[in-house]
Amino acid sequence: MKKILVTGGAGYIGSHTCIDLLNNNMEVVIVDNFSNSNEKALDAIKKLTGKEFKFYKIDYTDKDEMEKVFLENDIDAVINFAGFKAVGESVKMPLEYYTNNVYGALVLLDLMRKHNVKKFVFSSSATVYGDPEKMPLTEDCKIGGTTNPYGTSKLMIEYILQDLYKSDNTWDIVILRYFNPVGAHESGLIGEVPKGTPNNLMPYISRVAAGKLKELSVFGNDYDTKDGTGIRDYIHVVDLAHAHLKALEKLNKEDSGIYIYNVGTGTGYSVFDMINAFEKANNVKIPYKVVSRRDGDLPVSYADTKKAKEELGFVATKNLEDMCKDEWNFQKNLNKED
Ligand code: UD1
Repeated sequence: MKKILVTGGAGYIGSHTCIDLLNNNMEVVIVDNFSNSNEKALDAIKKLTGKEFKFYKIDYTDKDEMEKVFLENDIDAVINFAGFKAVGESVKMPLEYYTNNVYGALVLLDLMRKHNVKKFVFSSSATVYGDPEKMPLTEDCKIGGTTNPYGTSKLMIEYILQDLYKSDNTWDIVILRYFNPVGAHESGLIGEVPKGTPNNLMPYISRVAAGKLKELSVFGNDYDTKDGTGIRDYIHVVDLAHAHLKALEKLNKEDSGIYIYNVGTGTGYSVFDMINAFEKANNVKIPYKVVSRRDGDLPVSYADTKKAKEELGFVATKNLEDMCKDEWNFQKNLNKED
């Protein structure tokens, strides 16, 4: 397998994955409309890998434009990162979310079928488990019960992929259920740049550290956890990116099938763990106040990582200190640009 189409390849997880693909001698074709990214990520990919790649600035929901990409390139597999991902925004803009995420995936899959490209890696989320039946979460836990259009769009696409495979078992699909991606490339050149005020914990913490936000609001300290705050499975984005390479290797060697993997570290950290780790790793202070719980938040969520380890050979290698240091390194570079 050589030529990989990466939709959303200039985005947070997409850009880190493109670096890994290029460093492993794959050819990369990136499609991105910069709706939540910019050219800088592409420059950084070039600089960090010393390799060239093809780039199309198009909206992946535009079928005619996307068709050209398939006609002009002999694509072997597709990784689809081109999704909207802000939970709160999805509640306000459901039509935009379902159009971009679900309709976009349909456009892509239809073109793939037409051009006989049947290897697909899909970015799903632990959010598809809804209210989890047990912890840690195994891939055979029930899915459903999502509480916002973002989560429901991921769930719908998982169902679509299952039905597609049932209808034609020459498809070869890996669904990766991400836990909580954090951190940035160790160069500090690429990372997550949320639009407006961040909703997720780690980007919020780094902006407080940078003095751009006054203090962190800790959403509840009355959960039934060791210190009362929510527990999550944070995974370094460079590790998460590498899971996609492992997924492609799997698609390359196995007979066709549809495979689902959790991508996390298997370790849960609380909000207070994250504050302490960030302060210690970077020698900064994170002022915070405890406020009431955020609607829709789970007390605890972390992955059982056994299946990914056994079947993909994927194990996260970076620890919490790496996540905090790399996040701050990237944030400091952003500060210089301001
Ligand atoms: C959130 C989304 C999830 C999505 C994921 C993407 C919600 C309800 N869930 O997950 O669907 O897949 O992002 O990364 O939005 N926290 C604070 N203060 C903050 C921000 C967060 O205390 O300012 C706490 C939260 O209560 C939670 C933990 O930090 O316990 C992690 O929050 P976050 O980074 O938003 O991720 P999730 O809620 O797991």
